[in-house]
Amino acid sequence: MATPDSARLRSRRWFDNPSDPGMTALYLERYMNYGITREELQSGKPIIGIAQTGSDLSPCNRHHIELASRVRDGIRDMGGIPLEFPVHPIQETGKRPTAALDRNLAYLGLVEVLHGYPLDGVVLTTGCDKTTPACLMAAATVNIPAIVLSGGPMLDGWWKGKLAGSGTVVWDARKRFSAGEIDYDEFMNNVASSAPSVGHCNTMGTALSMNSLAEALGMSLPGCAAIPGPYRERGWMSYETGRRIVGMVHENLRPSDIMTQEAFENAVVAAAALGASSNCPIHMIAIARHMGVDHTLDDWQRLGPKIPLLVDCQPAGRYLGESFHRAGGVPAVMRELLLAGKLNGGAMTVTGKSIQENLEGVQEPDRDVIRKYQSPLLDDAGYIVLSGNLFDSAVIKISVIDAEFRARFLSDPAHPNVVDLKAVVFEGPEDYHDRIENPDLGVDEMTLLVIRNCGPVGYPGGAEVVNMQPPASLISRGIETLPTMGDGRQSGTSASPSILNVTPEAAIGGGLALLNTGDMIRIDLNNCRVDLLVSDEELAQRKAAWVKPQLVNQTPWEEIYRGMVGQHATGACLEPATAYLDVIQKRGES
Ligand code: FES
Ligand code: MG
Repeated sequence: MATPDSARLRSRRWFDNPSDPGMTALYLERYMNYGITREELQSGKPIIGIAQTGSDLSPCNRHHIELASRVRDGIRDMGGIPLEFPVHPIQETGKRPTAALDRNLAYLGLVEVLHGYPLDGVVLTTGCDKTTPACLMAAATVNIPAIVLSGGPMLDGWWKGKLAGSGTVVWDARKRFSAGEIDYDEFMNNVASSAPSVGHCNTMGTALSMNSLAEALGMSLPGCAAIPGPYRERGWMSYETGRRIVGMVHENLRPSDIMTQEAFENAVVAAAALGASSNCPIHMIAIARHMGVDHTLDDWQRLGPKIPLLVDCQPAGRYLGESFHRAGGVPAVMRELLLAGKLNGGAMTVTGKSIQENLEGVQEPDRDVIRKYQSPLLDDAGYIVLSGNLFDSAVIKISVIDAEFRARFLSDPAHPNVVDLKAVVFEGPEDYHDRIENPDLGVDEMTLLVIRNCGPVGYPGGAEVVNMQPPASLISRGIETLPTMGDGRQSGTSASPSILNVTPEAAIGGGLALLNTGDMIRIDLNNCRVDLLVSDEELAQRKAAWVKPQLVNQTPWEEIYRGMVGQHATGACLEPATAYLDVIQKRGES
């Protein structure tokens, strides 16, 4: 069914351009070779891309291959024509050296597809950690109507009568394996029990966090993020998402209408209430930069720290994705935040309505899993942004600082929230694994484990390695967690209260490069500072003596990436790519 506005559809420039019949014929003929008719392609129906992130190499997103048939049904039922295409795979746990390296590669590839092919709108299939930001970054740059369909979390995992959350269980099982409490087989089986079905991580790791924030931003239909992958509602949501994107094309509702400054502010508030992954600030800042929205770590520091933790999900809490979904999911959390006056309720969403309008009629949640704003799991749960004489910025996730850790390190009555620690420094994850059990290192209960050369340039993409566990000798004495700090990231499934994402990183001469094992470091959470306790002169001398490390590239992309990537604080974007928003949009071709 052609609609009155079909003449303005960008796909018409390929498939029905009377002023250039030669090119139109060329564009058309090959799309007909598997059965689409010329009548369909020239009917003025919107052509809708389905950006397929699922594959055998991307198991967290693999069921999108099946879900896409329901997306197609929805698109067809509303008078659109679906064209599915692959997105460069990004598997968090399988890609060496890091999955983060490929976020910007998938972004680049998707920009080329969205810009260069006859698509009027796109369904972004998301799931595993970096797939969500990669898709949203590309949608921002090209700015054609776009909607997120997450694949949903796996079913809850169980092991010996206890919930086993993906990722989170690994950190715990590793400690028990190191301490000799479990053998190799039990270790493997325990970890595998946390992944019982299709879907992405069932903890509030980076995957569930980023899909929840995509919903909080207004980029998916309400309720989408938390539906487990195998549930029938996931199929329903796929169908409704396919239906809705056609309407969005007719309404010309674009990412720039939805991903506004107000929407990003909402996402910061939602992240704190969810206990979301420490990777979220990086990805949200990257999406905002590609959208041309002024959104920085300052916004996270301004809006996040005073927001309470409302969602009782691992790693900050107890439950997993199924409970989160049954309790009400993201809409229930957003309702709490709206009632508390913490959201910009007028922010537009993919429904064509505001956040506030979408939340009308949302029911009271299951209070065991999603708390009332006034009686949270934890007050003041957002990230704190730190700085000092070693770096311009780093992030610490307050919601995972547990009572035991607080009592051990942050409860000196004379100086609450201030602690001096002795640094033990590792040059990267390989060095950490080689040396952590060496007794000569002198790691004790007042040690700060530091890891460097793990930022976007140093370990290309930025390695998730900062949540280092103490040596077995300490674990067997009951000291399971030490403070850690690094220029890498950490898995969103980790409950480690680490100082993360240090910017600038050591590989480009950041202050962590100047640290020596044995240095004393003061962490002062009251003033959001981390300082090396040496004189300015000493620091200057060390800086003058610093030698830039030789970086070895293993692939062409690593070399290109290292030459263009920015730092974690500014989203680890390909810097030249952030200038393209205006170029593509002003040309009027999107
Ligand atoms: Fe893919 Fe966690 S490893 S979602
Ligand atoms: Mg991860």
